[in-house]
Amino acid sequence: MAIANTVVLLYFIIFSVPVRVLAASQQQLRFDGKGEFRILQVSDMHYADGKSTPCEDVLPQQFPTCSDLNTTAFVHRMILAEKPHLIVFTGDNIFGFDATDAETSMNAAFAPAISSNIPWAAVLGNHDQESTLSREDVMKHIVAMKHTLSQLNPPEAHFIDGFGNYNLEVLGIENSSFVNKSVLNLYFLDSGDYSTVPSIPGYGWIKLSQQLWFQQTSMKLRRSYMNQPEAQKASAPGLRSYMNQPEAQKASAPGLVYFHIPLPEYASFDSSNFTGVKQEGISSASVNSGFFTTMVEAGNVKAVFTGHDHLNDFCGELTGIQLCYGGGFGYHAYGKAGWARRARVVVASLEKMKKGGWGAIKSIKTWKRIDDDHLTAIDGQVLWSKSSADVDNSVGLGMLK
Ligand SMILES: *[C@@H]1O[C@H](CO)[C@@H](O)[C@H](O)[C@H]1NC(C)=O
Ligand SMILES: *[C@@H]1O[C@H](CO)[C@@H](O)[C@H](O)[C@H]1NC(C)=O
Ligand SMILES: *[C@@H]1O[C@H](CO)[C@@H](O)[C@H](O)[C@H]1NC(C)=O
Ligand SMILES: *[C@@H]1O[C@H](CO)[C@@H](O)[C@H](O)[C@H]1NC(C)=O
Repeated sequence: MAIANTVVLLYFIIFSVPVRVLAASQQQLRFDGKGEFRILQVSDMHYADGKSTPCEDVLPQQFPTCSDLNTTAFVHRMILAEKPHLIVFTGDNIFGFDATDAETSMNAAFAPAISSNIPWAAVLGNHDQESTLSREDVMKHIVAMKHTLSQLNPPEAHFIDGFGNYNLEVLGIENSSFVNKSVLNLYFLDSGDYSTVPSIPGYGWIKLSQQLWFQQTSMKLRRSYMNQPEAQKASAPGLRSYMNQPEAQKASAPGLVYFHIPLPEYASFDSSNFTGVKQEGISSASVNSGFFTTMVEAGNVKAVFTGHDHLNDFCGELTGIQLCYGGGFGYHAYGKAGWARRARVVVASLEKMKKGGWGAIKSIKTWKRIDDDHLTAIDGQVLWSKSSADVDNSVGLGMLK
């Protein structure tokens, strides 16, 4: 008996690690055989108790037949229409005040993603903790759900504010020389709920501890992108010296950043320089914690995606970074009667090389779909392209599909 137990124990000691690695690599995100990676952003589901939870801000005749189940149906339809490789929920996934039990609400809210077998990731908004669970426990529940790639926090960060700060790497196509290399980097951050500093009113913000983690992670990813195989080299040697050169852009895989509360810089636009609509103010924190500047300095972030303001759904470019809203998705969330709920899609495409095979990312495009009978696609635009100068920024939707 004792020997058998020892053998079993040894088996676990020896094999538990490789088995875990294998399980993790099965979840590894990767560009598909067509050289595409599609992300569906679902923001502000505001899920509560399901069928018994009424809709907000729909037309008078729509109220009797409208509930959280309409939010569920919309997630299902979007998944079928876009067949994303990743679904990202950007906060206020549940509306805590009206959710009788946080776990039950989350299970229902994320159910369409889980049943689709598509990997998904979530961050917290400012309402997720207002039911029966704290922010930490909400995120712990999410992390334990099926098919999610969400993480509580990066294991290497000894101290970090918030819950649900993590990054995901998207590897190149199978059989290509980029098979083991992250060609698209995704970052997820907890933008907090409300200020805890008495003299500062309003919403939370991305803290310095989170920015430091972001900075170190993007630096680390930049380094591995420059390493063999398929080293993406810049002209100048050494990280420090080359970071100050325009060539630095070349040596970095594009990054996309997802969180809930928009940055103060979202207020830099008007209808002359954004795509989409702005129908309410920008509800960022009342202070600027500098995360936009940190991202500009990092040099690899191409676009930021938030939620929070349900009536804003635009993308505008500032200093080389596209600042985008997902647009309000949930039916038990404030909205505008007659103005359809919506979701954002992002597609990154790899460059097809002349010799055959695939290169690095060529372009990142986006559009939205509204919850009408046809899930009409609107506001198609190129967020970033390898040689932006060559590309018409206002391509029609036909070109995007
Ligand atoms: C990679 O190669 C294997 C074996 O030749 C093939 O079955 C698979 O379809 C290829 N994958 C892609 C994405 O081309
Ligand atoms: C909500 O779903 C019901 C049942 O499918 C449907 O009849 C109703 O039109 C939907 N309401 C809205 C606003 O989409
Ligand atoms: C990718 O990683 C696998 C597993 O470590 C290895 O067998 C393979 O040779 C690597 N391929 C390339 C092109 O680096
Ligand atoms: C957008 O245009 C307005 C003027 O219409 C200008 O004040 C603002 O600075 C512009 N924003 C950006 C980011 O270019």
